[in-house]
Formats: sequence, structure tokens, C-alpha cells
Amino acid sequence: MRRTKMRRTDPGGITSNQILGIFGTGYAGLVTSVCFAELGHTVTAIDKDHDVVARLSDGTPTIHEPGLQELLTGNLESGRLRFTTKAEDAVVGSDIVFLCVGTPPRADGRADLCQVEEVARTIAPLLDGYKLIVEKSTVPARTAYWVDWTIRRLAGPNREFDVASNPEFLREGTAVQDFLKPDRIVIGADTERARSRLLDLYRKGFHCPIVATSVTTAELIKQTANAFLATKISFINMVSDLCEELGVDVATVARGVGLDPRIGSHFLNAGLGFGGSCLPKDLNALITVAEDNGVDVAMLREVERINTARVERLLAKVDRALWVLPQKVIGVLGVAFKQDTDDIRGAPSLGIIPRLHSAGAIVRVYDPAAAQNIQKLYPPNDRLAYVASAVEAARGADALVILTDWDEFRSLDLGGIRSLMRTPIIVDGRNLFEPARMRAAGFEYHSLGRGEATLRTVPRRVPV
Ligand code: UDX
Repeated sequence: MRRTKMRRTDPGGITSNQILGIFGTGYAGLVTSVCFAELGHTVTAIDKDHDVVARLSDGTPTIHEPGLQELLTGNLESGRLRFTTKAEDAVVGSDIVFLCVGTPPRADGRADLCQVEEVARTIAPLLDGYKLIVEKSTVPARTAYWVDWTIRRLAGPNREFDVASNPEFLREGTAVQDFLKPDRIVIGADTERARSRLLDLYRKGFHCPIVATSVTTAELIKQTANAFLATKISFINMVSDLCEELGVDVATVARGVGLDPRIGSHFLNAGLGFGGSCLPKDLNALITVAEDNGVDVAMLREVERINTARVERLLAKVDRALWVLPQKVIGVLGVAFKQDTDDIRGAPSLGIIPRLHSAGAIVRVYDPAAAQNIQKLYPPNDRLAYVASAVEAARGADALVILTDWDEFRSLDLGGIRSLMRTPIIVDGRNLFEPARMRAAGFEYHSLGRGEATLRTVPRRVPV
């Protein structure tokens, strides 16, 4: 059904609202859809999953994201937002079509671009006049070339379109705020027509720097940003391991280092490392793009290795703390890859829970939002239960293992928790607490990089 162009022109003569089609209603696509509608644009979002489209059309979010519900409800009611399974509804009559479909990692580390290619094939026959097709999903550099090649091959020679890149920098848990108040907007376009269309779209409602560059540069900016964030995290985790040997607290080192504005304090929290659907995938994808182009990125492979090793390091601490695991009751606090999300993709819990279970422990898991997602992978059984609170996870436990930095874990009633546990042992993968405070509260507290080596009787190597 063709959408009427409810164009509104600002006093400056700039057309302020556009007719947008959004392919994909996952974390990026759904937030992009509701936020563009909130800014006054008319948005049609398409998903192949009929159930997802039905739930979203009823105003029920399909992801846990603060602030999303209100925007979804309000913009459905305003008529600026709708969901469909029909591609023509999102393409015909639209000024700009965004690709927000998944680009999950393949076994070899490369991004799986099947969904991107499928959307390109779907759009091609539906082109009705000039169309701007924009990659918002995170894709390897030069993907836009292949999207253009696919559409040109299938749409016939006289179709007018451009393929541009406008990567999202959304963090799960703060995605709505990140969209509406971004640090920067990156626009990748190789024609003046595409560039001006995207600049027009972002001219209203945003007050941040705009980087307008080529398509390939924009694609590379996104993957480089995520790979650098991953590098920063693995760097502090490498320092964290040294801190344990030297008996110093990595949190203090991070604070002292992060006060240098050239370094900055963000992403210097040592712990279980980075998970999620983006950092691991984008780090891997940048590695493969670089290696495919003959560039040595051994440094990034080391970032990946350090991150993968965090799970083993935490499990070794659980082993040392409990000595014997079979029949030990272990409360696991947190399964999401980080707080304020129900997303378990790339979460350390995916490796840790099955290892504790196969070692013979009785595992009782609590997460405020993500438990239902991990239950689909690891259903309850005689030694694996999902409980409704941290208190229930602590009841009768020989140890608590913290895997996600939920704020509610930081404010636990430690006295109450200690009284419920069989032995007051906490292994904290997210360094939520101060070691001295935990010792004063009567816990045997183990975390990552907090100078535990000082508990060792003699230094590992005495300088000669
Ligand atoms: C990330 C990027 O931040 C975002 O810009 C991009 O668009 C998508 O990928 P996200 O994956 O949602 O966002 O989460 P983020 O907040 O970046 O955290 C990623 C992982 O790193 C989490 O597992 C988190 O626990 C971990 N992390 C983060 C650390 O281990 N230490 C830190 O200091 C910060």
C-alpha cells in the first residue's frame, strides 16, 4: 500500500520528514524505526517473522530496551510507524530504505551477509524511481559494492539508486538514548545525491558532529570503532592479570590511567571481558577483512585470545575457591552479556554454566531479564535450576558466581546473603565490590585483578 507523503517543510525550506523503509526489526532495526518515527518521519519496518510483526504491531516490544515501549506505543498511535511482512510496503514510495538485518558471525569469523544479500535481491524489482539504500547493519568494508552489484544486476539498467552507509553506534541497554543523542553521525556516500539525502535526514533533531565520507570509509569506521573498544577491554584485562601477580588493584590502575584525557576512563573495567552480538563479531570481521587484504593484524588476534581466556581464568578461581565441585551448590548471578539487556549472545555465561554443570555442581541461576533466553539453550534439569531472585540463588549455596554487572547485584544485602549461604564464598567476574569491604562482611571474595596474589605466601619470582 503506497504511503502518502506527509512531508513537512521547515522554515529554512529543508524537507524535515522522509518516508523510510527499514528492513529488520532486531536490536538495531527496531530502535532505528521507533526513533526515526519519533523524530517525525514516516516509517515502515519489515520483518519476515509474522509473529514478530504481529507483536510489534500490537505495541509489544520484542527486545528488552529501556525507553522503547513508550516510543513504540506513541508512534504506532500517531500513525507514523507500522510493521509489515511485505517488502513492497517498505520499498515502494519510500525515500530511503535502511538495511538493519543481522550479520552474524560465520564459523570462520567472517560476517554472514546472507540476510543483506537477500534484502538486496528483494529490493531490486521493487525500485520505483530514485531510491537511496542505506546500510545501517555493521558490515565488512566494501559490502556496499556487492549490494550495488546485486541490485544493478537484478533491477535492470535504467533503475536509479545509490547504496550508502550510515552505521549505528547503539549500545544495548542505552540504544534509544544512543540513537537520539549520538556522539557523532557517520555518513558514507559516493554520490552528491546520496550524501545530500542523508544530510537532509540528519539535519533536524541532531546536534553532534557529522562525518561525511565515502561508503567504504564509513563501513571501516564502524568496525574499527568496535575493534578498538574490544582492544581497550582486552588491554585492561591483560593488565589485570599482572595486577594479581603484583598484588595491586586493577581498578586503581585503571583510574590512574583513565584520567589521561588521551586515554579516557571508559572501557577500562577489567573482568570477564566483552560479549554481545557486536564487539566479538566486529573484531573477528575486521581481522578477516585485514587478512584478506594481506594486512597483518596479529595484535587483534591477541585481543581475541585474551578475551576468550577470561572464562578459563574465572573457572580456575571457582575451582580454587571450592576445591571439589561435584554436588557443590553454586548460585550464578547474571547470564546477560552485560546489564540492562536480555541478550545472551557472546555472554561468558554460555561457557561457564555448562562447565560448572558438567563438573558435577548443582547450579542455580538468576538473571533479572535474560534467564528465559538461556533456558532455551540450557533447559532446567536435576542439577540446573532457574530461580526468581539473587536471594534464592544464594540460599544454601556453597558459592555465588557473578557473571553480569547488573546494578541490583551491587546493592545486594550482603548480611542477608551471607546468612543464607552454606559457605560465604563469592567469585565476582565483574569486580562489583571492594575486596576490603567484602572481607569485613565475612566473605571469601575472589575477583579479577584485585591483588589477590598478595594472599600468596611468597612472590612467584624473587628478583636475584
Ligand atoms: C557495542 C559498542 O559499544 C556500540 O558502540 C556498538 O554499536 C555495538 O557494540 P554493546 O555490544 O551493546 O555495544 O555493549 P558494550 O556496552 O559496548 O559492552 C560490550 C561488552 O564489553 C560487554 O560484555 C561488557 O560487559 C564489556 N565491557 C564493557 C567490559 O568488559 N569492560 C568495559 O569496561 C566495558
